Formats: sequence, structure tokens, C-alpha cells
Amino acid sequence: MSITDTRTLPWSWYVDPAVLKLEHERIFRRYWQYVARVDEIAGPATFHTSRVGDVPVLLVRDREGVLRAFLNVCRHRGSIVCRGSGSRQTIQCPYHAWTYDLDGRLLKAPRSDREGGFDPDELGLVQMQVDTWGPFVFVNPDLDASPLAEVLEDIPERVAEAGVDVDALRFLSRAESEYEANWKICTENFLECYHCAVAHPGFSAAMDVSPEAYLLEIGTLRMSQTSPPRPEPRASYDLSGEVDAGQFHLLFPGTVVNVMPGRPNISIGPIVPLAPERTYRFLDYYVAPDADETWIAEMLAFDAQVGAEDRVLVERVQAGVRSGLLDEGRLMPESEQLVARFQALMLDALA
Ligand code: FES
Ligand SMILES: [Fe+2]
Repeated sequence: MSITDTRTLPWSWYVDPAVLKLEHERIFRRYWQYVARVDEIAGPATFHTSRVGDVPVLLVRDREGVLRAFLNVCRHRGSIVCRGSGSRQTIQCPYHAWTYDLDGRLLKAPRSDREGGFDPDELGLVQMQVDTWGPFVFVNPDLDASPLAEVLEDIPERVAEAGVDVDALRFLSRAESEYEANWKICTENFLECYHCAVAHPGFSAAMDVSPEAYLLEIGTLRMSQTSPPRPEPRASYDLSGEVDAGQFHLLFPGTVVNVMPGRPNISIGPIVPLAPERTYRFLDYYVAPDADETWIAEMLAFDAQVGAEDRVLVERVQAGVRSGLLDEGRLMPESEQLVARFQALMLDALA
């Protein structure tokens, strides 16, 4: 299957636990994903826990302020080491009190002096790559993967050119949600606006969703949509402000970056599989510090309305593809070119 192919991915891939297992191994453990905000792990000697796919992640900032990411699994018998977040001078596992330094080295294992051949240097926490873009923390379990700045391509420049200084924004809220749908259905739904005119009346009254105006762009691992407002938008929030057009980026496999027209703003978060037919998402919303509360409330309500409409769509697709009597769908490679790109990346990664 190539990017010009008109077939969708096999529908069995949206229900099969063996496919999800492979996706965890070959995709979620090998690509950069958004995991946290910098302010969640701001001070020296602090920790914060998150996940990439099904991998538990421990973020640690040491006494000098260096940020590190580890597999949040004890090297002794495999307990999750930390839960939640907080400040610590050392990291101690609650099971048998193995104690790690903030750089991941094993400092102490009770009674290890009674064990022959016990080498603490071989038993540090497993490191992962961690990096930031402005206030956003990303992790990649694969130490050999390309650096974050490279895979983000020009997303940071695009966002900056739109008038959004990510370092100047204030964090607003985290919206969490779960869907009865495979993570790829959520992602593919995000990647096309072919459904917008049909399924998002409010969004389509505000934005020009015609194929002439609504721009689709493909990078290596990023897929981008630019959504200009209509010349005379009918919108339930005020679209005027520094940001002229909406931007909706996906960083493969599942990190979304959204900028809405109007006052400077951004929302960012991962799409995380919980089970073949269950997906978790969160979105961290940020706005310009001087954006007024009415504008914020109306913009969030507009976005929530689109999200509620998308929930119905993706859960309906899941119910359809799980029926098992059709092998695949018919993609529209022009209108759904970002979906085609996503599916090509999936095939490459799983091949
Ligand atoms: S499992 Fe962590 S100390 Fe035993
Ligand atoms: Fe949608």
C-alpha cells in the first residue's frame, strides 16, 4: 500500500490486540510524544510521572536543574517507582527501598552487601530521551531516535509566525477524555476536515472549510492543516486578534498541536491507546496572559462543541469497523491526504 492507494488500513487493525501490541513496540516506544508541562516539573529536586503509550515515565529534575526521563520501573522486581509528583532528594522504591539518585544511579539496595556480585552500577533506572519546546515536555523511550527539534520540523516557527509566543502564554487547564474507539480512528478523524461541513456546523460557519481555502501540508512526521476564518465568519467566539488562521498539527504518532484564530493560544496533548477499542487523550490549553475571561470561556466552549461532535463520529466509526464483515474502507486520497500519509507511516513503522 502506498500513499496514493485508495484503501484504508485493514479494519481488523482497529480491534486486534496483537496489532496494538505491535504498535506499542514499534511506534509508541520509538517516537517523540508530549508528556507534561514544564511547570509540572519546574523546581530543583522534583519529579513528575506520565506515560508514553503503555510505558510509565518518570521525569526528574536534579538539584542542578537538569531534566531527565526514566522508565518508571524499579530494576529490582519491577515495581512502579513513583506515583504523582513531588519533590525528593532521592528516588526510593516503596517495595524494598532500593534508592536511586536523581540522575538514575542506584545508590542503595538494603542488604546488597550480603549478595555476591551485586553491581549497583548496572542497576540504574533506564534512561529515555527528554526535551522541551517552550513550556512543553516531550519524551522518546528510544535513545537512538532523532532529536525533538528535528522531528518538530517547522511547527514551532509556524506557531511563532502566527503570533503565538509559547513562552509568554499562561496555562489555563488540562482537559482529559476517553473514547470508545481505537487511537488511530481518533487520529485519522483529527487529520481530515472532509467531515467538517457535514458534522461541525458551528466550526464550518466560522471557518472556510472548502478545499480551496483549507490548507493541508505533509512533512516527514508532521501533518498540518491551516484553517482560515470565512470572510464574514459567524462564530460563537470572537475570531479577531493576532492569530489570523487556525493551525492543527499532528506529530506522528499522536501528539496534536492546535492554535485557534483570535487571541494568542495553543492546546497540545497526546492521543494514547488504552486498549484496542479505548483511547485516552488530554489537552493542555494555554492563552495569552491578557486574554479576557469572556473570550477564553467562549473559545473553550467553541472547541468543546467540536470535540463533542468528534466523539460521536469516532465512536460511530469504531462500531462500524468492528462489525467484521468488511475488510477495509475506501480512502479519498485528495481530501484525506493527511490520513493517507498517517496510514503510510503506520505501514512503514509496522512493516
Ligand atoms: S521492586 Fe523496587 S525495591 Fe523491590
Ligand atoms: Fe472533527
